[in-house]
Amino acid sequence: MAEYTMSPERWAHTQTYLRELFAREDEHQRSLMPRAIAAGIPAIDVGPEAGRFLQMLALMLRAKLIIEVGTLAGSSAIWLARGLMPGGRVITVDLSETHLDFAKQEIAAANLTDRVQFRQGKGGEVLPVLLRELGPAKADMVFLDAERSEYIPLLPTVAKLLRPGGVLAIDNALAAQRWVADPYKPGEPRDVMDETNRAVAGHPDFIASHINPLGNGTLIAVRKD
Ligand SMILES: C[S@@+](CC[C@H](N)C(=O)[O-])C[C@H]1O[C@@H](n2cnc3c(N)ncnc32)[C@H](O)[C@@H]1O
Repeated sequence: MAEYTMSPERWAHTQTYLRELFAREDEHQRSLMPRAIAAGIPAIDVGPEAGRFLQMLALMLRAKLIIEVGTLAGSSAIWLARGLMPGGRVITVDLSETHLDFAKQEIAAANLTDRVQFRQGKGGEVLPVLLRELGPAKADMVFLDAERSEYIPLLPTVAKLLRPGGVLAIDNALAAQRWVADPYKPGEPRDVMDETNRAVAGHPDFIASHINPLGNGTLIAVRKD
Protein backbone atom coordinates (compact mmCIF):
# COMPACT_ATOMS: atom_id res chain seq x y z
CA MET A 1 0.00 0.00 0.00
CA ALA A 2 1.27 3.50 -0.85
CA GLU A 3 2.43 5.69 2.01
CA TYR A 4 1.03 9.20 2.15
CA THR A 5 2.73 12.20 3.66
CA MET A 6 0.36 14.69 5.28
CA SER A 7 0.99 18.17 3.86
CA PRO A 8 -0.99 21.24 5.05
CA GLU A 9 -2.75 21.28 1.67
CA ARG A 10 -3.68 17.59 1.85
CA TRP A 11 -4.84 18.11 5.40
CA ALA A 12 -7.11 21.01 4.34
CA HIS A 13 -8.63 18.86 1.57
CA THR A 14 -9.06 15.97 4.00
CA GLN A 15 -10.92 18.15 6.47
CA THR A 16 -13.25 19.49 3.77
CA TYR A 17 -13.86 15.95 2.49
CA LEU A 18 -14.66 14.58 5.93
CA ARG A 19 -16.81 17.56 6.89
CA GLU A 20 -18.88 17.36 3.71
CA LEU A 21 -19.34 13.61 3.96
CA PHE A 22 -19.73 12.90 7.64
CA ALA A 23 -20.38 16.12 9.55
CA ARG A 24 -23.31 17.65 7.72
CA GLU A 25 -25.26 20.16 9.74
CA ASP A 26 -28.88 21.13 9.27
CA GLU A 27 -29.75 24.72 8.43
CA HIS A 28 -30.27 25.70 12.07
CA GLN A 29 -26.88 24.26 13.10
CA ARG A 30 -25.14 25.97 10.16
CA SER A 31 -26.49 29.37 11.14
CA LEU A 32 -26.05 28.95 14.91
CA MET A 33 -22.43 30.03 15.38
CA PRO A 34 -22.61 32.94 12.90
CA ARG A 35 -25.60 34.23 14.91
CA ALA A 36 -23.74 33.63 18.18
CA ILE A 37 -20.69 35.51 16.91
CA ALA A 38 -22.91 38.41 15.82
CA ALA A 39 -24.25 38.43 19.41
CA GLY A 40 -20.70 38.75 20.78
CA ILE A 41 -20.14 35.08 21.68
CA PRO A 42 -16.67 33.77 20.73
CA ALA A 43 -16.21 31.20 17.93
CA ILE A 44 -14.88 28.44 20.19
CA ASP A 45 -17.44 25.68 19.58
CA VAL A 46 -16.28 22.12 18.88
CA GLY A 47 -17.14 22.31 15.17
CA PRO A 48 -19.17 19.81 13.17
CA GLU A 49 -16.64 16.94 12.99
CA ALA A 50 -16.20 16.73 16.75
CA GLY A 51 -19.92 17.43 17.18
CA ARG A 52 -20.85 14.44 15.02
CA PHE A 53 -18.34 12.33 16.93
CA LEU A 54 -19.93 13.34 20.26
CA GLN A 55 -23.35 12.41 18.89
CA MET A 56 -21.99 9.02 17.83
CA LEU A 57 -20.44 8.41 21.23
CA ALA A 58 -23.82 9.13 22.83
CA LEU A 59 -25.51 6.72 20.41
CA MET A 60 -22.92 3.99 21.02
CA LEU A 61 -23.38 4.39 24.77
CA ARG A 62 -27.19 4.39 24.34
CA ALA A 63 -26.94 7.42 26.59
CA LYS A 64 -29.73 8.56 28.86
CA LEU A 65 -27.72 11.07 30.90
CA ILE A 66 -24.90 13.25 29.60
CA ILE A 67 -23.20 16.00 31.57
CA GLU A 68 -21.48 18.75 29.62
CA VAL A 69 -19.28 21.50 31.07
CA GLY A 70 -19.03 24.45 28.66
CA THR A 71 -22.35 25.25 26.95
CA LEU A 72 -21.32 28.34 24.98
CA ALA A 73 -24.07 28.85 22.36
CA GLY A 74 -25.52 25.35 22.65
CA SER A 75 -23.89 23.81 19.57
CA SER A 76 -22.28 20.75 21.18
CA ALA A 77 -25.34 20.29 23.43
CA ILE A 78 -27.45 19.95 20.27
CA TRP A 79 -25.14 17.26 18.87
CA LEU A 80 -25.16 15.42 22.20
CA ALA A 81 -28.93 15.72 22.66
CA ARG A 82 -29.43 14.22 19.20
CA GLY A 83 -27.52 11.14 20.33
CA LEU A 84 -29.69 10.49 23.40
CA MET A 85 -32.02 7.56 23.87
CA PRO A 86 -35.72 8.51 24.13
CA GLY A 87 -36.37 10.15 27.52
CA GLY A 88 -32.68 10.96 27.99
CA ARG A 89 -31.24 14.34 28.93
CA VAL A 90 -28.13 16.47 28.66
CA ILE A 91 -27.29 18.61 31.69
CA THR A 92 -25.10 21.44 30.42
CA VAL A 93 -23.12 23.74 32.73
CA ASP A 94 -21.71 27.18 31.98
CA LEU A 95 -20.33 30.02 34.05
CA SER A 96 -21.76 32.67 31.76
CA GLU A 97 -25.42 33.64 32.09
CA THR A 98 -25.20 35.39 28.72
CA HIS A 99 -24.06 32.19 27.03
CA LEU A 100 -26.72 30.13 28.78
CA ASP A 101 -29.48 32.56 27.78
CA PHE A 102 -28.39 32.39 24.15
CA ALA A 103 -28.06 28.60 24.25
CA LYS A 104 -31.55 28.18 25.76
CA GLN A 105 -33.05 29.94 22.75
CA GLU A 106 -31.05 27.79 20.34
CA ILE A 107 -31.99 24.56 22.07
CA ALA A 108 -35.64 25.63 21.87
CA ALA A 109 -35.24 26.47 18.17
CA ALA A 110 -33.80 22.96 17.66
CA ASN A 111 -36.89 21.47 19.42
CA LEU A 112 -34.70 19.95 22.13
CA THR A 113 -35.99 21.81 25.21
CA ASP A 114 -37.26 18.59 26.79
CA ARG A 115 -33.82 16.96 26.44
CA VAL A 116 -31.48 19.71 27.72
CA GLN A 117 -31.23 21.17 31.22
CA PHE A 118 -29.05 24.14 32.11
CA ARG A 119 -26.96 24.88 35.20
CA GLN A 120 -25.15 28.13 35.82
CA GLY A 121 -21.81 28.03 37.64
CA LYS A 122 -18.27 26.75 37.51
CA GLY A 123 -17.89 23.14 36.44
CA GLY A 124 -15.64 22.58 39.45
CA GLU A 125 -18.49 23.57 41.76
CA VAL A 126 -21.55 22.29 39.88
CA LEU A 127 -20.33 18.72 39.18
CA PRO A 128 -19.95 17.81 42.89
CA VAL A 129 -23.49 19.15 43.41
CA LEU A 130 -24.76 17.01 40.51
CA LEU A 131 -23.03 13.97 42.03
CA ARG A 132 -24.90 14.57 45.31
CA GLU A 133 -28.21 15.09 43.48
CA LEU A 134 -27.93 12.21 41.00
CA GLY A 135 -25.93 9.69 43.01
CA PRO A 136 -22.91 7.73 41.76
CA ALA A 137 -22.60 5.88 38.42
CA LYS A 138 -25.63 7.58 36.83
CA ALA A 139 -23.99 9.39 33.91
CA ASP A 140 -23.29 7.70 30.58
CA MET A 141 -20.98 10.45 29.42
CA VAL A 142 -19.22 13.56 30.75
CA PHE A 143 -17.95 16.09 28.21
CA LEU A 144 -15.49 18.73 29.44
CA ASP A 145 -15.03 21.81 27.25
CA ALA A 146 -14.53 24.77 29.59
CA GLU A 147 -11.88 25.80 32.16
CA ARG A 148 -8.96 23.42 31.73
CA SER A 149 -7.43 24.04 35.16
CA GLU A 150 -10.57 22.43 36.67
CA TYR A 151 -10.21 19.11 34.86
CA ILE A 152 -7.63 17.37 37.06
CA PRO A 153 -9.34 18.35 40.34
CA LEU A 154 -12.64 17.16 38.81
CA LEU A 155 -11.42 13.68 37.84
CA PRO A 156 -12.47 11.93 41.10
CA THR A 157 -15.96 13.46 40.78
CA VAL A 158 -16.20 12.51 37.10
CA ALA A 159 -15.12 8.94 37.90
CA LYS A 160 -17.92 8.75 40.50
CA LEU A 161 -20.53 10.27 38.17
CA LEU A 162 -19.84 7.85 35.31
CA ARG A 163 -21.32 4.37 35.23
CA PRO A 164 -18.93 1.54 34.36
CA GLY A 165 -18.48 1.73 30.59
CA GLY A 166 -19.39 5.43 30.63
CA VAL A 167 -17.13 7.82 28.77
CA LEU A 168 -15.25 10.99 29.64
CA ALA A 169 -14.53 13.14 26.58
CA ILE A 170 -12.32 16.23 26.72
CA ASP A 171 -12.09 18.75 23.89
CA ASN A 172 -8.88 20.58 22.93
CA ALA A 173 -6.86 17.85 24.57
CA LEU A 174 -3.73 18.55 22.54
CA ALA A 175 -3.81 22.32 22.68
CA ALA A 176 -4.03 24.80 25.54
CA GLN A 177 -1.27 27.41 25.81
CA ARG A 178 0.80 25.35 23.36
CA TRP A 179 0.59 22.19 21.23
CA VAL A 180 1.20 19.73 24.01
CA ALA A 181 3.26 17.20 22.01
CA ASP A 182 5.86 19.80 20.95
CA PRO A 183 9.14 19.35 22.85
CA TYR A 184 9.59 21.51 25.93
CA LYS A 185 12.48 23.89 26.46
CA PRO A 186 14.59 23.09 29.54
CA GLY A 187 12.74 24.27 32.66
CA GLU A 188 9.54 25.11 30.76
CA PRO A 189 6.48 24.18 32.87
CA ARG A 190 4.10 21.57 31.52
CA ASP A 191 0.96 22.78 29.79
CA VAL A 192 -2.29 22.23 31.72
CA MET A 193 -3.64 19.91 28.99
CA ASP A 194 -0.37 17.95 29.02
CA GLU A 195 -0.85 17.50 32.78
CA THR A 196 -4.50 16.53 32.21
CA ASN A 197 -3.62 13.94 29.54
CA ARG A 198 -1.07 12.45 31.92
CA ALA A 199 -3.53 12.44 34.82
CA VAL A 200 -6.23 10.62 32.80
CA ALA A 201 -3.74 8.23 31.16
CA GLY A 202 -2.45 7.20 34.61
CA HIS A 203 -5.82 7.24 36.40
CA PRO A 204 -6.78 3.84 37.85
CA ASP A 205 -10.46 4.31 36.98
CA PHE A 206 -10.02 4.98 33.26
CA ILE A 207 -8.76 3.39 30.06
CA ALA A 208 -7.95 6.34 27.84
CA SER A 209 -6.76 7.33 24.40
CA HIS A 210 -7.12 10.13 21.87
CA ILE A 211 -9.14 10.45 18.69
CA ASN A 212 -6.87 12.42 16.42
CA PRO A 213 -6.94 14.53 14.48
CA LEU A 214 -10.36 15.74 15.57
CA GLY A 215 -10.44 19.45 16.30
CA ASN A 216 -7.42 20.05 18.50
CA GLY A 217 -7.45 16.47 19.76
CA THR A 218 -10.21 14.74 21.71
CA LEU A 219 -9.35 12.67 24.74
CA ILE A 220 -11.62 9.69 25.35
CA ALA A 221 -11.57 7.67 28.56
CA VAL A 222 -13.81 4.73 29.45
CA ARG A 223 -14.84 4.24 33.08
CA LYS A 224 -13.67 0.81 34.20
CA ASP A 225 -15.87 -1.59 36.20
C1 LIG B 1 -15.10 26.26 24.49
S1 LIG B 1 -16.58 26.96 25.07
C2 LIG B 1 -17.70 25.61 25.01
C3 LIG B 1 -18.09 25.25 23.59
C4 LIG B 1 -19.26 24.29 23.49
N1 LIG B 1 -18.97 23.04 24.19
C5 LIG B 1 -19.57 23.97 22.04
O1 LIG B 1 -18.78 23.24 21.43
O2 LIG B 1 -20.57 24.49 21.50
C6 LIG B 1 -16.27 27.17 26.77
C7 LIG B 1 -17.45 27.66 27.61
O3 LIG B 1 -17.08 27.42 28.98
C8 LIG B 1 -17.57 28.47 29.78
N2 LIG B 1 -16.73 28.49 31.00
C9 LIG B 1 -15.55 29.11 31.22
N3 LIG B 1 -15.08 28.79 32.44
C10 LIG B 1 -15.96 27.94 32.99
C11 LIG B 1 -16.04 27.24 34.20
N4 LIG B 1 -15.08 27.35 35.13
N5 LIG B 1 -17.10 26.43 34.43
C12 LIG B 1 -18.09 26.31 33.49
N6 LIG B 1 -18.08 26.95 32.32
C13 LIG B 1 -17.03 27.76 32.06
C14 LIG B 1 -17.48 29.71 28.91
O4 LIG B 1 -18.42 30.68 29.34
C15 LIG B 1 -17.78 29.14 27.52
O5 LIG B 1 -19.14 29.29 27.22
